[in-house]
Amino acid sequence: MIHVKTEQEIDLMREPCAIVRDTLAYLGSKIRPGISTAELDELAEGYIRSRGAIPSCLGYSGYPASICASVNEVVVHGIPGERYLHEGDIVSIDLCAYKNGFHGDGARTFAVGKIDEGKQKLVRVTEECFWEAVKNLRAGTPLYDIGAAVQAHAESNGFSVVREFVGHGIGREMHEDPSVPNYGKRGTGIRLKVGQVICIEPMILAGARQVRVLEDGWTAVTADGKPAAHYENTVVIREDGVEILTL
Ligand code: MF3
Ligand code: CO
Repeated sequence: MIHVKTEQEIDLMREPCAIVRDTLAYLGSKIRPGISTAELDELAEGYIRSRGAIPSCLGYSGYPASICASVNEVVVHGIPGERYLHEGDIVSIDLCAYKNGFHGDGARTFAVGKIDEGKQKLVRVTEECFWEAVKNLRAGTPLYDIGAAVQAHAESNGFSVVREFVGHGIGREMHEDPSVPNYGKRGTGIRLKVGQVICIEPMILAGARQVRVLEDGWTAVTADGKPAAHYENTVVIREDGVEILTL
């Protein structure tokens, strides 16, 4: 069931979304060779709580941390731990914050020191996929236009798109309807309504689109070991466009 938000509800979502934005920027300032993903998780949890919010991921379906920290070939849901970042890595940080009865959700992929041209292009194209998706998005747009835009931009750059993980509606629950795939056929799907709030989150792979989940039940890696990137914002559908709450 889709929960269209009132203007008051959207106002309540601004704060958790701003906290997500600020936590991502804060972690970005801490990322450097030698830091571990566990340290980033600890910093994130402290920061989110200092803003009076709760890290929504912690305990979600048994997830053991406040952030997902996905390095190189890890696509999503990398569990923070004793993985130390090295010069040349990329790390995708995905996190949610809960405050005012609502969740915010966002992700960024950061470079650790200097990264090679292939990774630079992957990170850039992944963010561009988000902007391609929102470029013509407004009330009345068919849902799968989002995925079609992401897929077209990724594939025209020689990259591929994950099928197993998708964006989603968000609000009082971290995951609400509808699912928002990063692939699809233009002109199909439900038509988006004013006041719907969705997370658009391209997950783009440098190599083949196949992924597998490690024995921990969470960590999703590329089957071919090539790198992946992730970029996500929480977005409100408006009459004439979108409002991005996590920027
Ligand atoms: N930000 C993630 C998402 O978009 C949150 C899920 S991570 C989990 O779905 F670990 F909490 F499951
Ligand atoms: Co999300």
